[in-house]
Amino acid sequence: MRQWQGDGILFGGDYNPEQWPEQTWSEDIDLMRRAGVNLVSVGIFSWALLEPAPGRFEFGWLDRVLDLLHAGGIRVDLATATASPPPWLARLHPETLPRRADGTILWPGGRQAYCPSSPVFRERSLELVRAVAGRYAEHPAVVMWHVSNELGCHNVHCYCDVSAEAFRGWLRERYGDLDRLNAAWGTTFWSQRYGDWAEINPPRTAPTFANPTQQLDFLRFSSDEQRAQLRAERGVLATLVRQPVTTNFMIGTGVKHLDYRSWADDVDLVSNDHYLTAADPQAHLGLALAADHTRGVAGGDPWLLMEHSTSAVNWQPRNVAKLPGQLRRNSLAHVARGADGVLFFQWRASRAGAEKFHSAMVPHSGPDTKIFREVCQLGADLRALAEVRGSRVDADVAILFDWEAWWGVELDSHPSIDVQYADRLTALHRALWRAGVTADIIHPSADLGGYRLVLAPTLYLVRDADVAALHQYVEGGGTVAVTYFSGIVDENDHIRLGGYPGAFRELLGVRTEEFFPLREGEQVRLDDGSTADVWTEWLHADGAEVLASYTDGPLPGVPALTRHRVGDGAAWYVGTRLDEPATDRLVARLVDETGVRPAASAPSGVEVVRRRDDDRTWLFAINHTDAEVRLPVTGTDLLTGARCAGELTLPAGDVAVVREDRTGDPT
Ligand code: GAL
Repeated sequence: MRQWQGDGILFGGDYNPEQWPEQTWSEDIDLMRRAGVNLVSVGIFSWALLEPAPGRFEFGWLDRVLDLLHAGGIRVDLATATASPPPWLARLHPETLPRRADGTILWPGGRQAYCPSSPVFRERSLELVRAVAGRYAEHPAVVMWHVSNELGCHNVHCYCDVSAEAFRGWLRERYGDLDRLNAAWGTTFWSQRYGDWAEINPPRTAPTFANPTQQLDFLRFSSDEQRAQLRAERGVLATLVRQPVTTNFMIGTGVKHLDYRSWADDVDLVSNDHYLTAADPQAHLGLALAADHTRGVAGGDPWLLMEHSTSAVNWQPRNVAKLPGQLRRNSLAHVARGADGVLFFQWRASRAGAEKFHSAMVPHSGPDTKIFREVCQLGADLRALAEVRGSRVDADVAILFDWEAWWGVELDSHPSIDVQYADRLTALHRALWRAGVTADIIHPSADLGGYRLVLAPTLYLVRDADVAALHQYVEGGGTVAVTYFSGIVDENDHIRLGGYPGAFRELLGVRTEEFFPLREGEQVRLDDGSTADVWTEWLHADGAEVLASYTDGPLPGVPALTRHRVGDGAAWYVGTRLDEPATDRLVARLVDETGVRPAASAPSGVEVVRRRDDDRTWLFAINHTDAEVRLPVTGTDLLTGARCAGELTLPAGDVAVVREDRTGDPT
């Protein structure tokens, strides 16, 4: 992956100077310098200003902004400005507006009101990219290009006639002929057989459940259409600019419909946006998961946190503000997990518009505030961490993640609505977090060779080649743990016959003949003392050793947890939804049996992660508790300059980044 120019960790945010009078711009630059900002994303939502009428471009204000930033020593991640079309586009071309499944038109007035398959949008947006890139390719402030913004955030699924035609084109590419499509979609069911491509539509609102493979293919198509915009813009940039190109992904458990794994090769560096779920008191665990996943998408390379918030957002039901110190902990947790840049949405809080109550680096109350002081502190912290840039994160555990499995498992008409893709992923990741163990979140087709332990939560849809690779990994001495409702279907969402969990039956040495989902709130107990809910199944051990069985519920005496020795490795199956203490015990056992070590032995509530390069290691320790803690480490804390000889004392809420002494270093 290509890197950006300059040294050290990037620091800054979205800068929207067009919302402010020009006198504010110089104050902005003074404050940015005070805070240590070194990169801002400019022009993201400025299409309507840059091209006020079709083909008429006005760049004067942007020229002045970029020159001012350059003079102030602030580098620019310049947007292609295509994120949201100007109102004239819909007026001249109403056919560019997206439609919901029920036909509702999504009108301009918010943002992203365009059909992702619209050739008119594509043409106009690329013309803008040509104009912007042509003008600023050589501008000395510009070090990076920012394609669009959160592609598909609001318009990922469009069901209009233009999209329908594009969907048919995509299906022709995939299947070649209608017989193949009919077979893949299982259209002998419910009289759905297609005799002409023109009969096929997106899964628009129907009297009852739409064909599941049609739904799955529409999800694939929709993600591909968004990626096509990225590719098209990047294609234009490639002919005009030399700086690296990125676009901000939205990796996290809240955004389901964009298969970023398939997008990763279309950017020079992976960027991500992450916002805490305010309602979750453990939101920093969600942050860790998103960061581990972003790193996985980046193939383990450093990545850029393109957006997060200094404090509250404006779009959740109750927008909880960050307590003092939280901004710092959140930001440094991203760095711990592989980010080489920390940026915010946005630099200065807006006066008007739907995001006026969203926090920013400079709040409405100005710089004499907790937020701006913490921003300045973070700037200083990141300067002190410059040497960490380019290093990688240590992880001996992999969690397998596939967007297609997510899409498949949450289709309608399934055994239980309580089987949600993020559920076991989150539970297992949190158990590892609590154990101080870092996991890479990677696609099932990724190389598993370097991992001691692989977890496969709810891998409902899985490809034969990935099953074979997992088998080989276990044969060679690896350990895998698979959770219920995995291996159930192939890529067409057709059941793998002969007993569940189809694809993994042989590897796991089990065979399930029938699912027994539980009623809402119903719990079952296991003979090892665990409690579980949501899911049970009539499972037979078929070579596997039974580690725990149900003592009550619909299946007393039936195995719930098994382990199968395969070659030099082991394959565990978790046939029910263990509660948190039981999940912690399971993970502790897996970690123990596979010799996985925590980054440091840290007290509960303290996040520990290690980054390393060829000859140095850095231990990040983030104290999320309200008590002072101690942990064993020897080295120098880059944030304070203090030495720790054997033990680090970390005050409540504080962070340390210790460059660890190498054996043989003088103490
Ligand atoms: C992101 C988006 C930004 C801003 C931010 C608010 O989704 O890229 O433009 O809207 O959310 O949290």
